[in-house]
Amino acid sequence: MSTQPRPEWREEGITFPAVDDYLYSMLPPRDPVLAEMEDQATRRDIPIVGPAVGRILQQLALMIGAKRIFEMGSAIGYSTIWWAQAVGEGGRVIYTDGDRKNANEARGYFDRAGVSKQITIKTGDALELLSEEKDPFDIIFCDVDKDAYPRAFRLAVPRLRKGGLFVTDNVLWNGEVTEKNPSDPKTKAIQEFNRLLYNAPDLFATILPIRDGVAVALKK
Ligand SMILES: C[S@@+](CC[C@H](N)C(=O)[O-])C[C@H]1O[C@@H](n2cnc3c(N)ncnc32)[C@H](O)[C@@H]1O
Repeated sequence: MSTQPRPEWREEGITFPAVDDYLYSMLPPRDPVLAEMEDQATRRDIPIVGPAVGRILQQLALMIGAKRIFEMGSAIGYSTIWWAQAVGEGGRVIYTDGDRKNANEARGYFDRAGVSKQITIKTGDALELLSEEKDPFDIIFCDVDKDAYPRAFRLAVPRLRKGGLFVTDNVLWNGEVTEKNPSDPKTKAIQEFNRLLYNAPDLFATILPIRDGVAVALKK
């Protein structure tokens, strides 16, 4: 097993380390732009979903033939590229981030990865940007500040088409969701979010316990 320090996008693993290592060792090489972004994320501690989750995102989009995806919290656009590669020529992914510097960096990667035509970049509060959208989405992906998760839930679900997916990262929060009475507001917010997700009558939800936990909820 490698003695190298794990990159940031591996550190939150909640599975057994050996199983985690196995899962990551099985992943095929990424295209050069994604690989470069992983490298940048590792060097600069940029929180990206990483390749194991990136593949899940792309697979989910391919499984439902998604053409319209809204991403809340896109940072340098790593997860956005996984989505954009799935939606193909006529598809659209809306990138959102509160930080303009992130958006500028992301634009460069999108150009080089050949996916710029599929992506609309919006800067500002992702929740406000989503509330301005009129037409339904095939997928809404939530990866914003964790305190906002319950509000993101309430905004996102009505904006999904029937058969669409609400996908959310970090729902196991490094295992802290198991705490009985957490004082951390982010942990509390994620616990509330997970309860909302599983109890929503119009959703069928599961949590995939990979990396930091990925929730996938199907709109019935
Ligand atoms: C975990 S990172 C996103 C990583 C990205 N999804 C990926 O895997 O490549 C979260 C990003 O969301 C942005 N963010 C957090 N809360 C936000 C909000 N309410 N509106 C817009 N952006 C937000 C932060 O600036 C940060 O870049």
